[in-house]
Amino acid sequence: MRERRTVDSSSSAADPSEGMGTLRLKREVGLISAVSLIAGTMIGSGIFMSPEWVLYHMGSPAGSLIIWAACGLLVMFGALSYAELGTIIKESGGDYIYILRNFGSLPAFLFAYTSIIVVRPASVAGVSLSFAKYAVAPFYQGCSTPEVVVKCTAASCILLLTIINCLNVRLATAIMNIFTVAKLLVLLVIVIGGVVLLINGHTQSFQDAFQNTTTGIGPVGVAFYQGLWSYDGWNNLNFVTEELRKPEVNLPRAMMIAIPLVTCLYLLVNVSYFAALTPAELLSSGAVAVNGDRQNKVLGNWVWVISLSVALSSFGSANGTFFSGGRVCYIASREGHMPDILSMAHVRCLTPSPALIFTSAMALIMIIPGNFSSIVNFFSFTAWLFYGTTIAGLLIYMVLYRDVLLSQVPIIIPIIVLIASVYLVLAPVIDQPQIEFLYVILFILSGIIVYFPLVHYKRHPQFLQRITLHLQLLLEVAPTAKNTN
Ligand code: ARG
Repeated sequence: MRERRTVDSSSSAADPSEGMGTLRLKREVGLISAVSLIAGTMIGSGIFMSPEWVLYHMGSPAGSLIIWAACGLLVMFGALSYAELGTIIKESGGDYIYILRNFGSLPAFLFAYTSIIVVRPASVAGVSLSFAKYAVAPFYQGCSTPEVVVKCTAASCILLLTIINCLNVRLATAIMNIFTVAKLLVLLVIVIGGVVLLINGHTQSFQDAFQNTTTGIGPVGVAFYQGLWSYDGWNNLNFVTEELRKPEVNLPRAMMIAIPLVTCLYLLVNVSYFAALTPAELLSSGAVAVNGDRQNKVLGNWVWVISLSVALSSFGSANGTFFSGGRVCYIASREGHMPDILSMAHVRCLTPSPALIFTSAMALIMIIPGNFSSIVNFFSFTAWLFYGTTIAGLLIYMVLYRDVLLSQVPIIIPIIVLIASVYLVLAPVIDQPQIEFLYVILFILSGIIVYFPLVHYKRHPQFLQRITLHLQLLLEVAPTAKNTN
């Protein structure tokens, strides 16, 4: 057993209702914040950038719309399964904690290792890069934006998010709520613009809508990857179950509100794109929103409004990604899978600041070589590998405890999600084997080499404890207890 010191916190740090004066993160996320944590993370830059890629791989408007609808349905089934998991295992940590409880320490460590070092920082970096691209676009109209400007802006975005999230959970969720409302309005404007165009007879894209549709397993898989990136973030709330008020009610409820809402909006936004542009125009427009073709038809010269909206949408999504990403690191450390310092919380702000700072540092490193589209494909491959593992855990649990489990979800739903994740992981690899997929697998497996000496046999270098103490004093952080009652 690892020694885990707890401190008596100051009166302001402790939540007396939680008892014992032990430091805990507070339950500050209510239903509205929960919905916006999901919807606000899901709606980022993807819905502005992926439609052309989905169309490119599917070949036809109807094929694209089917992919967008299928992604929504798959994510809904995934969410139902995760809601079930969240009510069985009431701890924060999402997939990590579910894999830990269902499959044990090593698989959970491999998830945490991959997630903390690569996946989460990569998604923070990816979303921040798209924020930066759109935020600076209006200043470089008619010429290409220097790479260094985009990267520096993305880095500033990450630093700002770190400060906000370290200061106060309420501040972070308030920002989440404001940005979510703003981006829902932006999508609504696009939908209304599309409806007006359709009423005025712009229906060319929908004649022979199925022409040229691809049926190849590989292209359909890659189209799914692009669509699913836009939906990603659907399981964000499971990472903060312990900070959610009445999780058994609010976790499923927030998912059931946010996901259908986002799915309907995404479908309508795509219809609106097809109303404004023919498939050929959409494919040649670069990024739908930046290029301005669509907006010139719908919004006239107000192209910068769209750039700004995409930037704000990405910023909100980066905030949600950062909020939950920091929690994976925090929980894994609390379970002894990461250095102790990462499981501590600030004694007054009650935020897991060391874990947030670490996530931010990793994301800053990712920005240097980072390229958005490669981040998306490898993110999706790794993410679905782990979603599949988590769902397999749920299925085993449902089968083993079928007599005592009052399951809310029919077993067929996790089975469908499991089959879909196997397909999503295998299809692109079989169709177009790329060496990068092998790198991802090798990276995950390299965790085994780290696991045995450092986690299993606990061979920690002596100086680590001294560093932890110094960092504790510097950052004013102390160990925390679970919040599962
Ligand atoms: N769906 C978001 C987008 O379209 C990306 C979310 C990434 N964050 C995450 N937690 N998976 O930009």
